[in-house]
Amino acid sequence: MIFLSTHESIKTFNSIIGYLTVEKNGKIVGLCGSFRKNSYNAMLLKVAGSLLPDGINFEIVSYDDIPIYNADYDIPEVSDRPESVKKFRDTLATADAFIIASPEYNYSIPGGLKNAIDWASRGKDSPLMHKPVALIGATQGMWGTVRMQTAFLPVFTFLNMNPVLQPEVLIAQAQNKFDENGNLTDDKTLSIIKIKLENLISACRV
Ligand SMILES: Cc1cc2nc3c(=O)[nH]c(=O)nc-3n(C[C@H](O)[C@H](O)[C@H](O)COP(=O)(O)O)c2cc1C
Repeated sequence: MIFLSTHESIKTFNSIIGYLTVEKNGKIVGLCGSFRKNSYNAMLLKVAGSLLPDGINFEIVSYDDIPIYNADYDIPEVSDRPESVKKFRDTLATADAFIIASPEYNYSIPGGLKNAIDWASRGKDSPLMHKPVALIGATQGMWGTVRMQTAFLPVFTFLNMNPVLQPEVLIAQAQNKFDENGNLTDDKTLSIIKIKLENLISACRV
């Protein structure tokens, strides 16, 4: 992990963001690995989106209506993909980059999220291929989703995505770091997220 003071990181963040806002009016799509109403990862994703500069559009895509993956329905030339999957893929296709905020389920990627990634992964028109992605996570446990994040690495590799690996955003004991309104109250964590976002935006440069 990189530890910078909040002041240092905000200064760096603002200077890079200012440059990039002029440079490009991009879009980042966020995916949350938890569908739970009071999900800490949903809160985290919203916080991350709120830290993006004005010039960058941010959309959180919902995907809780897509079916279990079945390759028989994932061959566009033969039969159309399910409507919900098409909509999901179309939204992902509008993204220059992704933020994924997810819990760890049984030391790995939550099944719903992995299922969605599988639906978006196939074909030359996969909306994930080659794109930068920042993976972040929050857990009520002690290990901050490190095993889920490690489990994602082979997925990113196979999809030829560009994961922004540093700094790692591993939020342990999330119940102590968000307030009842979903605000992230831990300054050190906030400054690390800001650096992660800077690095994500830098990775969008051609
Ligand atoms: C099915 C399931 C499996 C879980 N497995 C893990 C785990 O492997 N490691 C961990 O730290 N927490 C685990 N947890 C606890 C979650 O990290 C915790 O519930 C977290 O708050 C879920 O994220 P959310 O608040 O975004 O829904 C698990 C929870 C569930 C429901």
